[in-house]
Amino acid sequence: MLIELRDLSFTYFANNSPDQAVLKGINLSIRKGEFIGLIGPTGSGKSTLAQHLNGLLFPTSGKIFFKGKEVGKDIHPNEVRKEVGLVFQFPESQLFEESVARDVAFGPRNLGLPEKEVRRRVKESLGLVGFDYAKFADRSPFKLSGGEMRLVALAGVLAMGPSMLVLDEPTSGLDARGKARIMDCLAKLNQSGLTILVISHDVDELAQLAKRIIVLDAGKILLDDKTEKVFAGVDLLRNIGLDVPKTMEILIRLKACGLDVAIENFGLKEAANSIIAAMRRA
Ligand SMILES: Nc1ncnc2c1ncn2[C@@H]1O[C@H](COP(=O)(O)OP(=O)(O)O)[C@@H](O)[C@H]1O
Ligand SMILES: [Mg+2]
Repeated sequence: MLIELRDLSFTYFANNSPDQAVLKGINLSIRKGEFIGLIGPTGSGKSTLAQHLNGLLFPTSGKIFFKGKEVGKDIHPNEVRKEVGLVFQFPESQLFEESVARDVAFGPRNLGLPEKEVRRRVKESLGLVGFDYAKFADRSPFKLSGGEMRLVALAGVLAMGPSMLVLDEPTSGLDARGKARIMDCLAKLNQSGLTILVISHDVDELAQLAKRIIVLDAGKILLDDKTEKVFAGVDLLRNIGLDVPKTMEILIRLKACGLDVAIENFGLKEAANSIIAAMRRA
């Protein structure tokens, strides 16, 4: 197990009563290599939970284990921070160096790594987010597109050499192309072994990539299951104001019209194939 949260509760203020807690009795295990989507209404505690995963926030009660070690007891939160890279919302707002290469180098340089290793990591992480190093290294990050700036910020987190990435709404505010670049990049990183948890409101993009979905509502885990199982619970999701993937919606409507489609096939290609097959049978 990579990370385990046991009966975790959190209040932002010491004088808050337990019923004012932002996270309430969270139990959660994350295995190495998973690709997880975290969804929930605004204010349900997603960002707060994300910050617990990398040791930035500490539970008011309950425990966090990283690779079996209790955080704050057997392992220092700083060590967890190196292993679990957190990409904040709008991370491009934290870019500040005059060149892309210097910005990506900031984290590893702060770790006190030798300059040769810093340069290696900068090159490697820019490559991982799809940048040609020679072309981008010396450019000002502020002259890039919004989507490119966000990829540079992501490269900065990757340069720390994390084994897990937690991303807080990484595609919000980007155009379709910018979104696709981020999600393609996350898919590749996951295929190469990185564990990924993405917070997103875009259920369509999660449906294509995440194998598991966690639904947070009012600080509690409402659902935690395989993606197809969670998105099949259409009414429950709608009740708390969440969307379901468009492909799922179409399949459900076709099924209601009597077409024999399998609603668990909601990937774009799978849904199309399922509809074609059902129409041939009909
Ligand atoms: N720094 C903070 N100080 C006090 N309360 C906060 C802080 N950040 C978030 N909250 C509160 O905690 C709750 C959960 O917020 P958040 O984790 O940001 O939810 P989400 O990311 O799902 O929108 C909200 O009621 C929010 O107002
Ligand atoms: Mg948030």
